Amino acid sequence: MNAKFLVCSVIFGTVASAAVCAKDVVTARQADMKAMAAATKSIAGMFKEPSTYRPVEFKHSADLIGDKAGRVLIDHFAREAATSSDSKAKPNIIDERERFDRLANDLKSYAGALAAAAENNPTTMTDSMRMKPGEAMGGGPLGTHVRSEEQLSSIPAEHAFHLMLQTCTTCHSRYRME
Ligand code: HEC
Repeated sequence: MNAKFLVCSVIFGTVASAAVCAKDVVTARQADMKAMAAATKSIAGMFKEPSTYRPVEFKHSADLIGDKAGRVLIDHFAREAATSSDSKAKPNIIDERERFDRLANDLKSYAGALAAAAENNPTTMTDSMRMKPGEAMGGGPLGTHVRSEEQLSSIPAEHAFHLMLQTCTTCHSRYRME
């Protein structure tokens, strides 16, 4: 559980302050999403222009997404905090908990694969990081959900990046209002 949320729940046990805390959670998760969008943009720019590849920056962006994905993301949409008037989150998150959580965890796996790629390529963006010509953009033979870490580490980082972007889009199309 997110520390701030825990503090909220412990200090104020009342319905009125729970609403205030829920608002904090919405602000926090929207800020996290914006930070992930900036990190995604930074990585996308390096794939687009490999000469601009900076491994430290690349890894930092991947780690940022990884830190805000998985459990942290899941807890940001827990129970009463899932919906709020300031939020664009859809109420079906509550009913489709497992599906939502899986997307949050997939996001973390892809971010982890990207961080590992930066560690393994400490100078330039090697061809091993790039998608091969003809490699399907739409998830390819692996589909949009990569089942194991092992399988994930065997695909080029650029492919993992596209799968990550699909995870953002898939979650938004199902769980975020237009
Ligand atoms: C598991 C679901 C899920 C995943 C994965 C996800 N998002 Fe989101 N995202 C949401 C939801 C739900 C909202 C609406 C949050 C709200 O308004 O309370 C949102 C909102 C946003 C926003 C708008 C924030 C604002 O200021 O209102 C941005 C930008 C964003 N996401 C970017 C991303 C990016 C980039 C990724 C992938 C790296 C990503 N998201 C992955 C569920 C997800």
